[in-house]
Amino acid sequence: MTTLAPHQFQRIADIAREHWGLHLTDKKVQLVQNRLASFLRKSPFADVDAYLSHLDHEADQEDMLVFFDLLSTNVTSFFREHDHFNYLEREFYTPLERGTLTLPGRAIRIWSAACSTGCEPYSLAMHAMECLPSFSRWDLRILATDLSNSAVATAKEATYPEAMVSGLDKRLVSTYFQRGNGIAPGSVKVAPAVRRLVTVGRLNLMEPWPMKGPFDVIFCRNVMIYFDKPTRERLVNRMHQLLRPGGIFAIGSAETLASLKTDFTTVQASVYRKS
Ligand SMILES: C[S@@+](CC[C@H](N)C(=O)[O-])C[C@H]1O[C@@H](n2cnc3c(N)ncnc32)[C@H](O)[C@@H]1O
Repeated sequence: MTTLAPHQFQRIADIAREHWGLHLTDKKVQLVQNRLASFLRKSPFADVDAYLSHLDHEADQEDMLVFFDLLSTNVTSFFREHDHFNYLEREFYTPLERGTLTLPGRAIRIWSAACSTGCEPYSLAMHAMECLPSFSRWDLRILATDLSNSAVATAKEATYPEAMVSGLDKRLVSTYFQRGNGIAPGSVKVAPAVRRLVTVGRLNLMEPWPMKGPFDVIFCRNVMIYFDKPTRERLVNRMHQLLRPGGIFAIGSAETLASLKTDFTTVQASVYRKS
């Protein structure tokens, strides 16, 4: 059995904060302990100290990302928090279709930041195709990023257990997902027309970002709960800079910008706009 001594947990929390902005409170001791125990059983490391020493002295980026995966949570689902999609339909796609909102070059740029295994960016792509009857006239591109190697690999593969789409409308599933044809039984794969719209990459939100924007929409949902207040404030303000004026910013419905210093205007619970 692995029991974490306070100084070991503190070392883990320091690494998590330093590299990835994660704020591990004492409430996470049990979770970290359990995940570390099952990792160590299958690893060459004799105990927690040996593993921590490896992380301190020899670990390369891939080793660090294995450790990140032990600490983070990838929970996600298709069309999660549907109110955000409703807002986009009402306040973004409908005005675009009606011509009351115009975009240079008819280019729509969306960023799904901390996209986990890809359900969020693919939902955004399917939703845009549904909301824009004249879809082919638009140049839509969705950037999907996450730090987790395993999440990014799944997002690129775009194959999911059938259970993950069982709650979706049947027409939506038959239009935008594929079965059979080399796809494992019990799995579905996002259709090529949807996948083409999404570029998946690995990005640590704490590091410099290569993209310049401007984005029309940024979804940064259910990740800031893992960061402390100064980290959240910095992140939100960096995203504010990357949005075009009028751009839409959605965070998780359990999250809020209320206590942060930002220039965003609230338009709906957990949805904000840049003035
Ligand atoms: C709970 S998932 C949220 C997924 C999706 N946005 C949603 O709401 O369904 C949180 C994701 O944040 C990612 N994450 C945590 N810290 C990160 C960081 N510093 N940079 C990039 N991604 C990070 C994790 O890998 C994980 O996939």
